Amino acid sequence: MDKPGGGRQGHSLSRRKFLTVAGSAGVAVAATQFPFAKARSAPARFTGYPFTLGVASGDPTSDSVVLWTRLAPSPLAGNGGMPDKAIPVQWEVAKDENFTQVVAGGEELATYGDAHSVHAEPQGLQAGFEYFYRFKAGGEISPTGRTKTAPSGATSALAFAFASCQQYEHGYYTAYKHMSQEDLDLVIHVGDYIYEYDSNSYTASGGNVRANSNHEIVNLADYRERHAQYKTDPDLQAAHANFAWLVTFDDHEVDNNWATDIPEEGMPLDIFARRRRAAFKAYWEHMPLRKAARPSGNAIQIFRSAQYGNLATFHVMDTRQFRSDQACGDGNRAGCDDRSNPARTITGAAQEQWLYDGLQQSPAKWQILAQQVFMAQMDNTNGAGESYNMDAWDGYKVSRDKLLDFIDTRGIANPIVITGDVHQNWAANLLRDFRDADSKILGSEFVGTSISTTGDGSDAQNTGAFTENPWIKYNSQRRGYVRVALDQQLCRTDYRTLQYVKRPGAPMTTHKSFVVEAGNPGLKDA
Ligand SMILES: [Fe+2]
Repeated sequence: MDKPGGGRQGHSLSRRKFLTVAGSAGVAVAATQFPFAKARSAPARFTGYPFTLGVASGDPTSDSVVLWTRLAPSPLAGNGGMPDKAIPVQWEVAKDENFTQVVAGGEELATYGDAHSVHAEPQGLQAGFEYFYRFKAGGEISPTGRTKTAPSGATSALAFAFASCQQYEHGYYTAYKHMSQEDLDLVIHVGDYIYEYDSNSYTASGGNVRANSNHEIVNLADYRERHAQYKTDPDLQAAHANFAWLVTFDDHEVDNNWATDIPEEGMPLDIFARRRRAAFKAYWEHMPLRKAARPSGNAIQIFRSAQYGNLATFHVMDTRQFRSDQACGDGNRAGCDDRSNPARTITGAAQEQWLYDGLQQSPAKWQILAQQVFMAQMDNTNGAGESYNMDAWDGYKVSRDKLLDFIDTRGIANPIVITGDVHQNWAANLLRDFRDADSKILGSEFVGTSISTTGDGSDAQNTGAFTENPWIKYNSQRRGYVRVALDQQLCRTDYRTLQYVKRPGAPMTTHKSFVVEAGNPGLKDA
């Protein structure tokens, strides 16, 4: 199984045995384990089992991955039930689930100021290799997580899933239960990991199935509590425990449809700046993000790339923090000339340049743009007239035109855009010029449905969208996620869907599959 850089051949036999997240409370650990712990660690005492939020890993490179947990014996209580005191937390990484071959370990100080979160960064791991990890604090052992480093060099194959929009009250996380049993190298979350609302202002059709813990969240304690509540879900914990994740946020991690320093509603700008700062801090505290991503003031560096050998570069984007305010008052608008204003941007200049450089310099076959909102043009008015969603790339037309122009003129091969936000599955081709439906196809966009947001959904299909927008080829309105398999010849996507989420236990099926051939852009039915 030691095949660095060998892509999926590196999987061990245990690959298909998914991990459950039953806590390891009370499990005795032999003195020989956690050999990297420092002697200064004083045993901490907790009011209860501290690893109630599970474990996670993320941001893989070819020799490292971030390991995350947070000490929270009472996750919904103030400060997670933790005292105002720093607690040493040991971690270890092994080649096997039983931790007989420990290859890395260390100790982090979980501080009160960072909500006793831990972001450990082992170095010197092998490329494209599966590892197991766990934490220890005060004699308590965390559940075991499994992770995988990125491959390097020649890479034959890769599988990942992407997800978005997991309104806790709207449904169960059945999709994550199924995802945990998939054979994946990576999970990507493209936003709406939490929702900021109170329990009553945004409800699933037919009503909610569970309640969140408080009011609309505004301050740091609120955001921490909301993240903690979501993280108590066992299916979400299992999906984190089984795979490395690459995450980015959309709007609801802060406030619906916020843009840069502008809130959705009429909140004073200085108050919104504090709100954004609180939201980013809680997001970083609860995600498997690098220490370097720790927010500074009310800014967070979330756009970044991940390299998977010569097969894929993931360009993980941030279309919220640097965007111009939505044109023409936001919403679905007809006759909005301002959407074509060249001064408007969805990425900001620095991120745009970073993306262009990354696309041009990538050594990989596939360019995966992991981002938040619909990129393909979508006229929402059936028949005469046109209207566009001002929160999507349609409201930032010049940003989109520039990107597509760059892809075309610089010969950027095999761009694939993966998107969330709209709580429906869609698939579209990205055209050189959307005014001409026969224009050159440059790449494809796969839009994933929600994990739970809006509840069960339906079997309806918005076929009117296909007539108005012939580059759009697929729509479905059930919950789930999208599984993507890449090799040097093909990108295959499977839309994995559930018939219901408002009660647990729905079986998962593949509703639709597409392939895109390397070097031959455009969606084909699989
Ligand atoms: Fe959403």
